[in-house]
Amino acid sequence: MSGLPVRDDLVGKSPYGAPQLPRAIQLNVNENPHAPSAALVADLQRAVGEAAVSLNRYPDREAVALREDLAAYLAKQTGVPLQVEQVWAANGSNEVLQQVLQAFGGPGRTALGFEPSYSMHPILASGTGTRWVAVQRAGDFTLDAARAVAAIEEHRPDIVFVTTPNNPTGTVTSLDVIEAVCDATPGMVVVDEAYAEFAAQASAVTLLDRYPRLIVSRTMSKAFAMAGARLGYLAAGADVVDALRLVRLPYHLSALTQAAARTALAHTDELLATVQAVKEQRDRMVRDITALGLTVVPTDANFLLFGPFADPAATWQALLDQGVLVRDVSSGPGLAGWLRVNAGTEDETTAFLDALRKVHS
Ligand SMILES: Cc1ncc(COP(=O)(O)O)c(C=O)c1O
Repeated sequence: MSGLPVRDDLVGKSPYGAPQLPRAIQLNVNENPHAPSAALVADLQRAVGEAAVSLNRYPDREAVALREDLAAYLAKQTGVPLQVEQVWAANGSNEVLQQVLQAFGGPGRTALGFEPSYSMHPILASGTGTRWVAVQRAGDFTLDAARAVAAIEEHRPDIVFVTTPNNPTGTVTSLDVIEAVCDATPGMVVVDEAYAEFAAQASAVTLLDRYPRLIVSRTMSKAFAMAGARLGYLAAGADVVDALRLVRLPYHLSALTQAAARTALAHTDELLATVQAVKEQRDRMVRDITALGLTVVPTDANFLLFGPFADPAATWQALLDQGVLVRDVSSGPGLAGWLRVNAGTEDETTAFLDALRKVHS
């Protein structure tokens, strides 16, 4: 890019992205390892085929039918009745979060997050010209109300991010702490619940009626096993959704995406049945990694943080040499020595554990 007049704040930066190595066993981006069933694939083909007939037309700009389906799913999952006006969807929860930052952040405004956490939050902040304030979590990666409230009172952020279960640590933040964050925050609070279906705790959606500035973001990329479909969504007040409409691109959700996501939602029970299998493999990983004398951070997600390693990059490479791709997060804030791995199928998990035994003996 040398010589190009790119924005000063982008010069020298690297694009976000973990390695994509299709020949390896891929346990590095927290996907659900279970591919869609033949019945779901057949329904997807039918639905996408039906949508294809009118691809000369723009899709429903408001994605109303999809948002109705998402509202119904979320209402069933959380026990909170939701109107379609309270639900918004975009191409992955990354786009949802970007729209939140476009509408509520921007130049002269501040977003605050508790690190280590999802590394896209500060990148999305930077892309929207929002100043990012990083507040460290406790040494065990938990977040308590006193620490959170003190940071919010000090920085008075326009947006606060709380990720629960947190990526990459798997740590849950209790609803009490989220309430304290909502009480203290002058601006918006975003609870990123990308991994909520794997967790035992109730959703922050249960707090929406008390906190009009609360936003709960979700995704179909993880428990729903639909990472390739790119569908994220959020629940919030209807006026929050109206604000997002001011920044979204027209027709941002293609007719094919809307059709695919609605079809997947019609298979919710089947797709979410994989959650139990994934958690079993995660728990097996926890047991076997711990038996090797390593530490595993308590997790309520489909992945875990393990270590510490004196040379995590070398361990990452040694695992890859055995054909298993995990995530080297060790260069992240507060993460020196740690690697992250997500639960695979039973066979993938076995391959990972065998490789780790060889590498760490
Ligand atoms: C905490 C968290 N939020 C959001 C996302 C984005 O997911 P997607 O854009 O696929 O919905 C991820 C993906 O790994 C994540 O870990």
